[in-house]
Amino acid sequence: MRQQSELPGIAPARGGHCLAPGLTFYQGHFDDAAQRALADEIAEAVLQAPWYVPRMPRSGRAFSVKMTNCGSLGWVSDRDGGYRYQAVHPVTGAAWPSIPHLALNAWRALSSYPHPPEACLLNFYDSHARMGLHQDRDELEFAAPVVSISLGDSCCFRYGGLLRSDPAKKLELCSGDILVMGGAARLMFHGVDKIFAASSGLLPGGGRINLTLRRVTRPRPAGTGAARES
Ligand code: SIN
Ligand code: MN
Repeated sequence: MRQQSELPGIAPARGGHCLAPGLTFYQGHFDDAAQRALADEIAEAVLQAPWYVPRMPRSGRAFSVKMTNCGSLGWVSDRDGGYRYQAVHPVTGAAWPSIPHLALNAWRALSSYPHPPEACLLNFYDSHARMGLHQDRDELEFAAPVVSISLGDSCCFRYGGLLRSDPAKKLELCSGDILVMGGAARLMFHGVDKIFAASSGLLPGGGRINLTLRRVTRPRPAGTGAARES
């Protein structure tokens, strides 16, 4: 499957391709040097917050993807507590490390949202890992988009509509690509069908890392004494 470098008839939004209302694709946003620098920032973060295997609510079945987080909040899932955000790593109990600078820069440049993200979920896919079709809906603030950054091996990303049964399209996401899911696409169903093993040499040992930046809480309205946010 090849990525479309041109999407005829669709107006680019600030260097991006509008794939659907609210869904903007920034192909190759990070060049090779930026990808390496971001991968280095992630390697540092993972020393503090190691990859762990999340589990499905109720069944306790292991995800095929390993996860960790950066930010003041991290998305976690386990058998008894289900999907949620929390301030500490579920295995070490330590606070999550800071969000990588390059990821924050991408949020500032592309989110069109005036407040910083609170969570940066990191997913690691080996060549067998997948992610089923789902919505990102554990946040309180849907006015902020989800900004999704791909590094390492390419994948076949699938995205559809607001119903699981809506027709889905496929898009190859490569290292350095960014997808912004906001507005009408904020709650779209999406997932990862396949990893193209050894399609990138970025990550030692191969695999794919996806970072999703999320605003979790609703910012307090101006004038209510909220601390200034960066
Ligand atoms: C996710 O939906 O959390 C990850 C999507 C991706 O890996 O591209
Ligand atoms: Mn998701």
